[in-house]
Amino acid sequence: MNVVTVRNYHQLSVQAAQLVADQIVQKKNTVLGLATGQTPIGMYQELINMFNKSEIDFSKITTFNLDEYYGLSSKHPQSYHYYMWNNFLKHINIKKENIHLLNGVTENIKEECNQYENLIQKNGGIDLQILGIGDNGHLGFNEPAIGLNSKTHLVNLSEATIRANSQYFNNIQEVPKQAITMGIGTIMKAKKIILLANGRKKAHAIERTIKGPVSTEVPATVLQLHQDVTIIIDQKAATHL
Ligand code: PGA
Repeated sequence: MNVVTVRNYHQLSVQAAQLVADQIVQKKNTVLGLATGQTPIGMYQELINMFNKSEIDFSKITTFNLDEYYGLSSKHPQSYHYYMWNNFLKHINIKKENIHLLNGVTENIKEECNQYENLIQKNGGIDLQILGIGDNGHLGFNEPAIGLNSKTHLVNLSEATIRANSQYFNNIQEVPKQAITMGIGTIMKAKKIILLANGRKKAHAIERTIKGPVSTEVPATVLQLHQDVTIIIDQKAATHL
């Protein structure tokens, strides 16, 4: 794994955006895997800035999002659908039909998951997957567990994740208890992966991801087995390295 430690969150966002831009220059019809959460917001902002300066063209790219809360419709302000539109997609020239987000209110989970996997395949697989990391080492919503599901699936969120994400809801009861997420296998099939982490609260998960033994108890450790991973972290997230 290629670990890049930068000074601060701004630098992290700039560097991540540059890697995405380089990828799109290299392959105009890049298939991007996208993440939500606080961490990539600065990167999305940088990409929007590049687009506004005509430095990048998103018209041929395709995107697949990592995950979605189960039970939240696309109009719910805490849905990842809503997040993606507001923080990135509505600001760029991506074609609507090239955007893929999981349907959190699907009536047929199995079909939703299978269809998503098939669509990723049909588009030639993910060229570049952006990832954040949970304080508990989760990737997407692949939570620490005895075993990890490899394909897109429905998952029960861990107590830690529900607690961490309750800051975005009125109270902890409102946080969905389940989500649909790409599986670890889906993520590992991406040709390139960029994982972003900033702040001291991620330092422990980052230490285990880079130095720890590969274990399903820290899902991000599986990235040690991928051949093209770049981890961009700020100095605080690098505290224990
Ligand atoms: P964050 O979430 O970017 O909001 O810290 C990351 C995650 O939980 O995967």
